[in-house]
Amino acid sequence: MKKAIITGVTGQDGSYLSEFLLDKGYEVHGIIRRSSVDYRERIAHLEGQPHFHLHYGDMSDSMALVKVIGAVRPDEIYNLAAQSHVQVSFDSPEYTCDVDATGVLRILEAVRQCGLTHSCRIYQASTSELYGKVEEVPQSETTPFHPYSPYAVAKLYGYWIVREYREAYNMFCCSGILFNHESERRGETFVTRKITLAAARIAQGKQDKLYLGNLSSLRDWGYAKDYVECMWLILQNKTPEDFVIATGVQHSVREFCQLAFHYVGIDLRWEGEGKDEKGIDTATGKVLVEVSEDFYRPTDVVNLWGDPSKAKRELGWNPSKTSFDELVKRMVESDMRKVREEVILSHSRVNLAEYLEKGIVK
Ligand code: NAP
Ligand code: GDD
Repeated sequence: MKKAIITGVTGQDGSYLSEFLLDKGYEVHGIIRRSSVDYRERIAHLEGQPHFHLHYGDMSDSMALVKVIGAVRPDEIYNLAAQSHVQVSFDSPEYTCDVDATGVLRILEAVRQCGLTHSCRIYQASTSELYGKVEEVPQSETTPFHPYSPYAVAKLYGYWIVREYREAYNMFCCSGILFNHESERRGETFVTRKITLAAARIAQGKQDKLYLGNLSSLRDWGYAKDYVECMWLILQNKTPEDFVIATGVQHSVREFCQLAFHYVGIDLRWEGEGKDEKGIDTATGKVLVEVSEDFYRPTDVVNLWGDPSKAKRELGWNPSKTSFDELVKRMVESDMRKVREEVILSHSRVNLAEYLEKGIVK
C-alpha cells in the first residue's frame, strides 16, 4: 500500500485529493494545524476511515514536519498548504512568505534529513499567479514569470527551490502550475464562491446586494476535482517535470457573475463603467451587483489563460472534463441547497454573509 502525506489536507484541494488517493488504495496522512474550532468541514466525512490519518504540524514548524515525515516515511508528498488568498497576502506579506516560500524549503529539507531523498516524490502546488503581469497570452511552461503580489513572489521561491533540489540532489520533485480551480468546497472569499453564495442568498431573499472588485479580470477557471487527478499524474510520470494545468478557456468575473445569477433565475444587465458599473435585475430594475474599491488590489492579475497542451500530450489529462457552464451550475446548485438549510446554521455564518456584503471581510 502506497503512503502519501498531504499538507493542506483541510483545504479545497486537500479534501478532493484525499478522496482520490483513498480510492486509488493509498494510505493517506494529512497534516493539520491546531485550531480552536475542531470541525474540519471538508474532510469530516473521511475522518475515522481506516486508511486516513491526521497529524498535527504547521508549515512554519520544521521540527513538526521532520517528525511526521520521519514517522510516516511516505512514497509521495503533496505540498498543498499555503496562505492561499492573494489579497490577504498584501495584508500579511511576511506570514505568507514564511508559509508559502520557506515552508516549501522545510518540506524538501525534511525529506532529505529523513533519508528519503531518492524514494519520496514531492508535488508542489505552484500557481498561474507566477505569470502575474502577463508577458504572453496564453501562458505555458515556457512563458516568463512576472509575479504581481506578495503571494506570487513567495510561490515563485517555492517553484525555484523545487527546481533547485531536483537539479542539485536529483530528487523527484515537481510543480503543477495550476490555474484557478473552483468547486462547491471553494473558500467563501474567493470571487467565484463569493458570487455563487451571494446569488443564492439574493434569490432566497437573504441578501440585498453583492459588492465586487474588478469585474473585467479574466481567469481560466476549472473544476478542482478534475485538477487533483493531475497532481497525482505528475508524480506518476517517468521523469520529474513541471506542468501547466488549465482548461484553455477564459472568462471574466462579470461573465461568471452573469451565469451564476442566471442559474438562480435572475437575468442581469450591466450599466456603467469601472467603479460605477452595476448589475441590474432585468425583471425588477433592482441593482444587485455593485463595485466596491475595497476589493481592488494594489496590483491585480487580470489576464490569466493557460495552455494545457503539455499535460494533455504527456499525462493524457483531459482539460475539458467539466465545462465552465457545468462548474458554475454545480456551485450555484450547492449554494442554493446550503443557503436553504442555513436556518439551522450558526449565527457566525449569517454574520459572515453580512460582512461579505458590507466588505468588512474580503
Ligand atoms: P485552501 O482551500 O486555502 O487550503 C489551504 C490549506 O493550507 C488549508 O488546509 C490550510 O489549513 C492549510 N494551511 C494554511 N496555512 C498553513 C500553515 N501555516 N500550516 C499548515 N497548513 C496551513 O487552498 P486550495 O484552493 O485548496 O489550494 C491548495 C494549494 O494550491 C495552495 O497552496 C494554493 O496556493 C495552491 N493553488 C490553488 C489554486 C486554486 O485555484 N485553488 C490554484 C493554484 C495554486 P486551515 O484549514 O487550517 O486553514
Ligand atoms: N476575492 C475576490 N473578491 N476577488 C475579486 C473580487 C472580490 O470581491 N472582485 C473581483 N475580483 C477579482 C480579483 O481581483 C482577481 O483578479 C479575480 O477576481 C480572482 O480573484 P480570487 O478568486 O480571489 O482568486 P485569485 O486568482 O486571486 O487567486 C486564486 O487563484 C490562484 C491561481 O491563479 C487563489 O486560489 C490562489 O491561491 C491561486 O494561486
